[in-house]
Amino acid sequence: MDTLETPRLLLRPLTADDTAFIIELLNDPSFIQNIGQRNVHTDEEARTYITNAALNSYAKNGFGLAAVVIKETGEVTGMCGLIRRDTLPDVDLGYAFLPRYWGKGYAVESAQAWLKFGWDKAGLTRVVAIVDPANEPSVRVLEKLGFVFEKMVRLAADDIELRLFATENAEKKNRS
Ligand SMILES: CC(C)(COP(=O)(O)OP(=O)(O)OC[C@H]1O[C@@H](n2cnc3c(N)ncnc32)[C@H](O)[C@@H]1OP(=O)(O)O)[C@@H](O)C(=O)NCCC(=O)NCCS
Repeated sequence: MDTLETPRLLLRPLTADDTAFIIELLNDPSFIQNIGQRNVHTDEEARTYITNAALNSYAKNGFGLAAVVIKETGEVTGMCGLIRRDTLPDVDLGYAFLPRYWGKGYAVESAQAWLKFGWDKAGLTRVVAIVDPANEPSVRVLEKLGFVFEKMVRLAADDIELRLFATENAEKKNRS
């Protein structure tokens, strides 16, 4: 998978060396509340998560969740990427950041780079995002990115209803 670059950030592939970061992020209360309990507590569980959630996707799709790194300091702030799920017809955008890096525009900046990659390199025409209705900060990020609310969805029969947002490649739309 490519490393993407923005003015302040590098979006690089996750590796087996990112276990400490993954354990911290996946056990943050904001991650558990808004995304879910992944039960990743040990180095081994983190390596398995990195393989299943990221490396397998890089190999299959050429994209996936990337580590979002501040160029100047090398700090890993969160992860962001495009995800192809069996449960959704469209590729979706996912992101989560450690709370100490919130409010600095990193979610918007990294997601913009992934959308550009989606349109220009992966040939996508539409990207969706699914959000817990209570997750206002995430809805703000999506609206800044130009996503529009479409409908409520349930990814599994026993899941709560989530809000599905979508955005389309503006250039393709204008040509058609
Ligand atoms: C959702 C989440 C990623 C949002 O993170 P965030 O840090 O608020 O996102 P950003 O900073 O990129 O953008 C939002 C805010 O930063 C501000 N911002 C943008 N550029 C900035 C800059 N250069 N300096 C300071 N602030 C900036 C924006 O104005 C915006 O604030 P506003 O909405 O009050 O106007 C974060 O809350 C999170 O990780 N939550 C837990 C996981 C999660 O819910 N993931 C989403 C699942 S759908």
